Amino acid sequence: VSSVYEEPYRPQLHFTPKSGWMNDPNGMVYINGVYHLFFQHYPDSTVWGPMHWGHATSTDLVHWEEQSIKLFPDSLGWIFSGSAVYDQQNTSGLGKDGKGPLVAIFTHHSSDGEKTRGKDFQYQSLAYSNDEGKTWTKYEGNPVLRKPEGTDFRDPKVFWMAGVNKWIMTLAVKDHIEFYSSPDLKSWSYESSFGADKGAHGGVWECPDLVSFLADGKEKWVLIVNMNPGAPNGGSGTQYFVGDFDGRDFTASHTDTRWMDFGPDNYAGVTWSNTGNRTLLIGWMSNWAYANQVPTQNWRSATTLVRELALQKVGNEYYLQSTLLNELNQLAGSTTTDPAALQLPARFELAAIPLQQVEWIFSNEAGEELRLGFDKESNRYYIDRTKAGEASFHPDFAKRLYAPRIAAGDSIKWTVVMDHSSVELLADDGLTVMTALFFPSSLYTNLNAPAVRYTPLESIWKKK
Ligand code: FRU
Repeated sequence: VSSVYEEPYRPQLHFTPKSGWMNDPNGMVYINGVYHLFFQHYPDSTVWGPMHWGHATSTDLVHWEEQSIKLFPDSLGWIFSGSAVYDQQNTSGLGKDGKGPLVAIFTHHSSDGEKTRGKDFQYQSLAYSNDEGKTWTKYEGNPVLRKPEGTDFRDPKVFWMAGVNKWIMTLAVKDHIEFYSSPDLKSWSYESSFGADKGAHGGVWECPDLVSFLADGKEKWVLIVNMNPGAPNGGSGTQYFVGDFDGRDFTASHTDTRWMDFGPDNYAGVTWSNTGNRTLLIGWMSNWAYANQVPTQNWRSATTLVRELALQKVGNEYYLQSTLLNELNQLAGSTTTDPAALQLPARFELAAIPLQQVEWIFSNEAGEELRLGFDKESNRYYIDRTKAGEASFHPDFAKRLYAPRIAAGDSIKWTVVMDHSSVELLADDGLTVMTALFFPSSLYTNLNAPAVRYTPLESIWKKK
């Protein structure tokens, strides 16, 4: 194992750049057996700064190979978040030798930043690749979409909508979403707006995504909207709306606010493009409240584990359900009910038990501990990182984090994945999810947990 992956707190199951700053995952696209992951990256520092698109690839969504930086800041600005598509029919004309290109659609952010606020400071641009993502060229007609009056206007997520034969762009515009359409990725027409009077508005809307599911034989659409701050446990979080989309308008079928992940550390998540009927999401495992201050040394931030999304009916309503990939099983050692020789990373399962108070306690030699559990009286799950380790970098980090139970039945169950500095709790088959960071002075080696099934997981860097 290369020694960079042995630093304190370095995740063993999650992608991290070898060095430098990372935030949002960008441009995820699948082509010819390779899953591409680009990411907001500042290679020269461990705090946020001039944004580039870093790049990593995987053939199994579990092991990642960091690649060279693919998009650098230029005269139009820094390279903010966006998406990538496989333009199979070469609608853009940017392909080569009769083959369609990969096209990245991203936000150029004027590097004058605040000075140009109120003017036109964020606009959408293209870059394309004709060698399956190895090299990229910025389109000479950039930018392709600007808003004359100027406001937050960013994070384009694009997909090909079969029925209407157009590309659809979902864009975050300060306090609402705007939809645009295009025949060729180069010229965009405004279609509609959604959300100024819907959902949670404790912060700026960012990084949206629009995905369709088959639920009970009918097509349903889910609009994912990231927002910072204003999340249920403070800072950044991801809400979603279930509804319909006809190629022009999105309409939500409910008025309550719904959260994809109630933990504080899953942000800016969006889905992969070109994965058929699998809907695969990856998030940035941090929170703008403290992302620039977390106590890691040579790099900052990891991605979450990849999650497969589906819609699940509870009562008469559909909710998003997030589950971990079967691909993770390739890392699994043998499962036991005895966590005496606890080694992280690992997966832990609570098999379905009747509704009751449950608490698991992970701890280390220093007496630091992470608790997670279910509080029967308030019908909530929790992760308690009050005494989990180093927390002096932010006043709100050390606390108990809560999430409502959404499932209706009279039993509870969960899957937990613990890495060296993160926990992902997926309860009730992923109807209630919590992702949280922690920074213990040494690894947790003890577990006090009733009804646990424990499966050690091998580090993804082991092959290196
Ligand atoms: C979300 C975000 C995006 C923006 C990017 C800049 O975390 O603020 O809206 O494009 O990060 O790095």
